[in-house]
Amino acid sequence: MLAGLLLQVPRIYDWITEVLEATDMTFCFKGPYLSGMDILLTVDPVNIHYILSSNFANYPKGMEFKKIFEVVGDLLQRFLFDTSLILMTGYDPKCLSIEMPKVEFGDAVDGVSDGVFYRHVKPVFLWRLQYWIGVGVEKRLKRGLAVFDELLEKIITVKREEIKSHETQHHSRGEAIDVLTYYMTMDTTEYKYLKPSDNKFIKDTILGFLIAARDTTSSALTWFFWLLSKNPEAMNKIRQEVNKKMPRFDPADLDKLVYLHGAVCETLRLYPPVPFNHKSPAKPDVLPSGHKVDENWKIVISMYALGRMKSVWGDDSEDFRPERWISYSGRLKYEPSYKFLAFNAGPRACLGKKLTFLQMKTVAAEIIRNYDVKVVEGHKTEPVPSVLFRMQHGLKVSYH
Ligand code: HEM
Repeated sequence: MLAGLLLQVPRIYDWITEVLEATDMTFCFKGPYLSGMDILLTVDPVNIHYILSSNFANYPKGMEFKKIFEVVGDLLQRFLFDTSLILMTGYDPKCLSIEMPKVEFGDAVDGVSDGVFYRHVKPVFLWRLQYWIGVGVEKRLKRGLAVFDELLEKIITVKREEIKSHETQHHSRGEAIDVLTYYMTMDTTEYKYLKPSDNKFIKDTILGFLIAARDTTSSALTWFFWLLSKNPEAMNKIRQEVNKKMPRFDPADLDKLVYLHGAVCETLRLYPPVPFNHKSPAKPDVLPSGHKVDENWKIVISMYALGRMKSVWGDDSEDFRPERWISYSGRLKYEPSYKFLAFNAGPRACLGKKLTFLQMKTVAAEIIRNYDVKVVEGHKTEPVPSVLFRMQHGLKVSYH
């Protein structure tokens, strides 16, 4: 089974979707003895609600996940990388400058997220050996972490000096500050797990935010333009809506762009930037679907497969249809988070959901108002097997 699974890695998202559609949305397989690969795959919304919300306390990330993350402490991607790093640290890496510098730091984040993905499908002893020897994706992960560590060390040192020299100045209420300054200057008496004096803690926090913000939104925007170039009617409808309801850019009007909102939701349903979630029960349990799970089991929820389940979204689940999100009265239709799981559900739901819609709708409205986006003929698109759902070879488009 394990060999079969590794063979399927290049098309793992579709393979999992096919398996789950054929097995009433939940599927278990036992890995080889001592491999620690006993996995339960599920996209059953009742199980998802149970694991992520109503019985959340029994489903931490699991010891395996801690081992996986122990080391952690093109254009849209560059744009989001610059804006995310400015928001997080106040430092502008200028990746989007006209000269298009080599984005060593961005490559480092890719190396980390690809490495982390493969750790989900490889036995622990194997990836540990590869990390130790320094081969394959583990080598890229190691190098990525080293690059990241060095750059953040510099940013943190400069920031600590800045804060020291401004110690007498106090931030006034409502004044905008970056996340790094916020973490370093906050009163931690009530938060025993926050350690602003510890550089490793700060680095892990910033890396977490950077991966959460940069790659997710840039991946979603890339798939969004790819889907629109395949659905020119939808692109026209968005342009009409933008011209009618927001003739000049005004963030207050973004809420009126209901069809555009539906198109963004469709993109996140079909190409969720975080394609799966990973949990392990603290105590043995029985899921609402009747499946028994032990402490050493991995539970994998595939957001990608969930978005394509006919039993959840109907027979046209594979189609891109922004109308799906609009009610008869022309308002946005609400879908519960355990069905539309792109931003996760329950206490660990994404903190950046509102910001994502704001960023994506702003970029989409301004590009579509001014240009017709077409994918270059013959350009091949495939997802990269990674913890983040990126597009292999990027997206080559022409603007008219
Ligand atoms: C398309 C865009 C985005 C998607 C699809 C997305 C998705 C997710 C998902 C699935 C999680 C749960 C991860 C887990 O626990 O396994 C998450 C958590 C998180 N996201 Fe996002 N995210 C997006 C954008 C952002 C942005 C722009 C920010 C910040 C500026 C952000 C900040 C966070 C943070 C801080 C968490 C951790 C929350 C916690 O553990 O309590 N996200 N996101």
